[in-house]
This record gives sequence, structure tokens and C-alpha cells, in this order.
Amino acid sequence: MNHHIITIDGPAGSGKSSVAREVANRLGFTFLDTGALYRAAAVAIREDGCCAQDNAACGRILKQIRLDLSGSRVFLNGRDITEEIRSPHISELASSIAVHPSVRSELLGIQRSFAGRTSLVVEGRDTGSVVFPDADLKIFLDATPEERARRRHEELRLKGSASVMDNVLKDLKNRDHRDETRKVSPLVIPEHGIVVDTTHLSFDEVVEKILSLARDRLTD
Ligand code: DC
Repeated sequence: MNHHIITIDGPAGSGKSSVAREVANRLGFTFLDTGALYRAAAVAIREDGCCAQDNAACGRILKQIRLDLSGSRVFLNGRDITEEIRSPHISELASSIAVHPSVRSELLGIQRSFAGRTSLVVEGRDTGSVVFPDADLKIFLDATPEERARRRHEELRLKGSASVMDNVLKDLKNRDHRDETRKVSPLVIPEHGIVVDTTHLSFDEVVEKILSLARDRLTD
């Protein structure tokens, strides 16, 4: 049977995760959240206590751990860390360690190991440009920094975490800068990627747009 891959990349707060999850559900594909793998790697690196600036040390730690995704749960060496990976501290650390070539190459193998078994909707920063450059459909979701910060702020508020809008916007711009300027696999619009600007679109409109692109592309 022919398995399909749809990649959805974009900056923090562009709505990738929730959109990708819904598109995967509607198509009956498996959802692969690659950011969760970077976040889980950050938890492992923090627990080891090594210097997060040290490319080689981070790579060594990742060789010794086991990361598993099961449904929407994330496991580090068998321990469920699904909630832990969403803390602001881990968001920051995941973005910092994602600049290391050793971290990216360790996680590349894990991401590619999901292909071939089922059809996938993959969400991340470089999934269309580096991880699955031959994907059937590549989407780049975007929105203005202000709109993305507003969504993130609302998300944190709903979770009961106090946050200051100006700080959320500042953190988001820092992460954008790091994601876009890192030497290995920076955040880019992938070749043949289709840009969907979600600033003025509702969640349902974004999902419908991607489903319609998928129907056209996957039946070709
Ligand atoms: O999508 P997210 O916020 O959960 O991702 C967490 C961090 O992981 C993000 O700051 C950048 C990094 N990341 C990456 O570099 N490449 C990916 N494919 C996915 C995430």
C-alpha cells in the first residue's frame, strides 16, 4: 500500500500542532509532532545536567536515551513527560538545543523511522525541507508575530499560567530569530511548499484549506 506524507511547518504559535492533529484525524493519518521530540530531548539534557551549549555532550546524551510517542503521549525512557515538555522553561531550552547539529542528526533518524509504516501528517520546522523533502504535500503555516503571541498568551491563560503579553511576544521573537538563523536546518519555506497565512483565518478554515489541498494532491 502507498503511504502518504503531509508536512506542516511554520513558526511558533502559527497553529501547526492543533491544525496538523485535526488534519491527521480527518484523513485517518498518524500525527507526528516533531517539536515534542525536541522538547523531550531538552528534558533529557536538563536532567543530565550537562552544558546545553555543548553540541557534542548533547549528542552523547541523546544516544543513551529512549524517546517514544504513543498517541498524544510522550515518553522518555518509559516515563510519561507529556505535561512536562510544555513548560515555558522547556520551550526555551528546546529552541536552544535545536541549533546543535548533533541533536538534529539524532532526532532526524527517529523522525524518519515513522515513515513507511502508515500515512503521516508531520508537524515541525524542517519537516518539508529536511526530514521528508519528498513529501506529497508541504504546507508552511504563518501568521504575524503579534497574532501568534496573542494565541500563545490565550493558550497559557486557559491553562491557568499567568503570562505578560509583552514577554510572550519577546520570547516568541527570540525563538523565531533562533529558528530562522541557525546554521543547520533553519526554519524556511520548503521547496514546493504552499504558504497558508492564518492571521485572519479561523481554525476550521485553515483545516478545510489544507484538507482541500490534500484531496487535490493525493488523488493526482
Ligand atoms: O513546535 P514546538 O514549539 O513544540 O518546537 C519546540 C522547539 O523545537 C522549537 O523551538 C524548535 C525546535 N524544533 C525544530 O528545531 N525542528 C523541528 N522539526 C521541530 C521543532
